Amino acid sequence: MIVTTADLYKVAYGKFAIGAYNINNAEQTMGLFRGCIEAQAPFIIQLSKGARKYTDKRMLEAIIRSAEEIFPDAIFAVHLDHGDEDTCIDCINSGFYSSVMIDASHETFEKNVEITKRVVDLAHAKGISVEAELGMLGGVEEDIVVDEKHACLTDPDEAVEFIRRTGCDALAAAIGTSHGAYKFRGRQSLHFEVVEGIRDKLKAAGMPVTPIVMHGSSSVPADEVARINAAGGTLDPAACGVDENEYLPAAKLGVTKVNIDTDGRLVWTRVHREFFHSKPGEFDFRPPGKIFMDEYAKFIAAKSVKLGCAGTIPEVRASLGK
Ligand code: G3H
Ligand code: 13P
Ligand code: ZN
Repeated sequence: MIVTTADLYKVAYGKFAIGAYNINNAEQTMGLFRGCIEAQAPFIIQLSKGARKYTDKRMLEAIIRSAEEIFPDAIFAVHLDHGDEDTCIDCINSGFYSSVMIDASHETFEKNVEITKRVVDLAHAKGISVEAELGMLGGVEEDIVVDEKHACLTDPDEAVEFIRRTGCDALAAAIGTSHGAYKFRGRQSLHFEVVEGIRDKLKAAGMPVTPIVMHGSSSVPADEVARINAAGGTLDPAACGVDENEYLPAAKLGVTKVNIDTDGRLVWTRVHREFFHSKPGEFDFRPPGKIFMDEYAKFIAAKSVKLGCAGTIPEVRASLGK
């Protein structure tokens, strides 16, 4: 059942985080739904601009609609990831999306406010919620590359002003993560103080607390990287990501949506490299595709436990009155 992102935020805020997973094809979709059903976890499917172009946006929509029929017990929202203004407008008008992200974080503060506000006005008129971004994550996202020296943490005072002026429903805040497989040099912790600061300053200003979205949340497991390299990959073995044990403490402070894409790509790469490495004469893509769906489902179920959303379907249903 497709629900609104706002409904999921309402039940999760301050208690657990909801995984937001990027999908591009049917195999990822099957693994995602199976994993979430197994874990009894609500989830958010997110579609990037690149994903909408990979086959065709209508193909993704059809895959999701079919998955909804195949898994009638699944509870999820559909979200546009890292949208520009035109893509947000297209998604808002399509009637298919529960929420959109307008990412104008590379613009000046004033321009970001202006663009975000325009999208919020259009989206709210159709009952769709909006995620906006303030601060700059490092790493690579779609066609934008932000190097470490230009990445900067979100300033809590600016965040309060931004939320007040734009009316956005969720804020993607830069709290020390970055996109992709190479997030940190050495082990680094999330900047919990930024999440806490935004929450406390919103409360002090008499404003409702706003869910925080953590982009770049993949954990980049070392054993996944090692297996890929053992099967012919050349990933930097120093690659590392977010400590999964920090998801739940962050959720308690207000991180309600946790974006994960890279980890799923690593599962795909490991399965396919290992399969074709051990069977160099094979050319049927369905056997590794089946292994991938199983492995991705297992990965999603385990992530849901770390996010604290495993087993919450009854609570979510009660809150939705369904
Ligand atoms: O943050 C970006 C997501 O990982 C989506 O990646 O734009 O290559 O589909 P993509
Ligand atoms: P990762 O690259 O850490 O998976 O982050 C994905 C993301 O933020 C999608 O918006
Ligand atoms: Zn992102």
